[in-house]
Amino acid sequence: MPSARLTLDPRATVGAIDRRLFGSFVEHLGRCVYDGIYEPSHPAADDDGFRVDVLDLVRELGVSTVRYPGGNFVSGYRWEDGVGPREDRPRRRDLAWHSTETNEIGLDEFASWARKAGSELMYAVNLGTRGVLDALDVLEYANGRAGTTLADRRVANGTTEPHGIRMWCLGNEMDGPWQLGASTPEEYAEIAAKTASAMKQVDPALELVVCGSSSSQMPTFGRWERVVLERAYEDVDFISCHAYYEPKGGDLGSFLASATDMDRFIESVVATADAVKAARRSDKEIAISFDEWNVWYQSRFHEVDKITDVDDWPVAPRLLEDGYSVMDAVVVGNLLISLLRHADRVTSASLAQLVNVIAPIMTEPGGPAWRQTTFFPFAETSRHARGVTLDVAVDAPDYETARFGRVPLVDAVATYDADSGATAVFAVNRSLDEEVVLEIDVSRLDASASLSARLLSDADIHARNTLEDPERVSLREVAVDRDGDVATLTLPAVSWVVVEIR
Ligand code: AHR
Repeated sequence: MPSARLTLDPRATVGAIDRRLFGSFVEHLGRCVYDGIYEPSHPAADDDGFRVDVLDLVRELGVSTVRYPGGNFVSGYRWEDGVGPREDRPRRRDLAWHSTETNEIGLDEFASWARKAGSELMYAVNLGTRGVLDALDVLEYANGRAGTTLADRRVANGTTEPHGIRMWCLGNEMDGPWQLGASTPEEYAEIAAKTASAMKQVDPALELVVCGSSSSQMPTFGRWERVVLERAYEDVDFISCHAYYEPKGGDLGSFLASATDMDRFIESVVATADAVKAARRSDKEIAISFDEWNVWYQSRFHEVDKITDVDDWPVAPRLLEDGYSVMDAVVVGNLLISLLRHADRVTSASLAQLVNVIAPIMTEPGGPAWRQTTFFPFAETSRHARGVTLDVAVDAPDYETARFGRVPLVDAVATYDADSGATAVFAVNRSLDEEVVLEIDVSRLDASASLSARLLSDADIHARNTLEDPERVSLREVAVDRDGDVATLTLPAVSWVVVEIR
């Protein structure tokens, strides 16, 4: 049986872990908002129409921030449609998802939902079909103190205190040809820089996210980041990264190594941002907001889900409702390992999305809410990855992939929380057919530390949780043997594990 060895040293740190790494994303798309977080006729709905069973799961998931309201949706969105008396709100065509937007939920309702969920709201402005003035307007409405027209409108609509939104996204995926108002890097750099500068004139403490490329596969990737940062550097704080993974042509070996792509993507964007920093002789460092990431079976969307009938504009259709397998959850767990490994520069991230739409939480109208397989690695990582990321030496056998060449069979990261003294190890076995013995050298930790582990794996790597069988897959406790300075456990093929060392 192959074996892999990790050496833990609490003094070898990568950087502090920002809680915003465990964010998610709610877009007006499919059944994420309507029939997802909001279903006033559901028996579990609260007085505001929000499903309490969903709120409970969101809290259990440990979601720190929620990006809202899109996504592609935001590039055609008029924020003012979603505020004020519901009966006066317009119904609009949402061109991004070929749906009808009823505007029953808007900024004030969502901010109230985020408070209930215990999550920070991160708001995206429309820079696809709108510009500087509209961004300033929604900022005044959201954050202004009473005394000016738009802030007073919020008060009149029932929210006396400003929402106090700190993080703002300057549009969404503006390089994508599918995006309303898609731009060249130069066009976007101009509008993003002007919007950022105007928003900072209102409040210099805002944290602004400029759009990076919509994926590292875009033809302008690299140049886009450089051009945008050269123009907007001093007024923005983050640049975004987006990445979705799915098996291509049945190549599961490469799919299981998707985190290799995420590692390279992050390191390329950091290098580009730092090159701009050096050329500007700036002291300021740009952080990464990895504000869309997940496994997403996009091929299924294009072949099955996509609405193309010109007269069909449904309300809250079932779109992008991927059912996730154990293998998908192992990939998600590994992507979290990649994000943690870059905690020094990735200080915000959003699992896309939260409910029903490529989501860890699923719901049925009038029926139950349940956890997808991907729920488990996210919830456990959010709960246990505290303090700092450790620079872990991983000594593991490797395997050949079509996409990335040779990659390690085992990938891992560890975190250390000085306050509680707890160390956590997160690891995956990417092998499709072999168990791996994981040895953890704990000689530099407290000799009396106790170890426990929870594992995600299944004899059927395609097993899922469904409406009919919502608890088919869950985590299980596994034994960790300790012999002096070495702890040992066995990782089945295609598995994810968290080891707690207290
Ligand atoms: O998350 C689904 C979509 O993926 C988002 O709307 C868009 O930003 C991305 O292309």
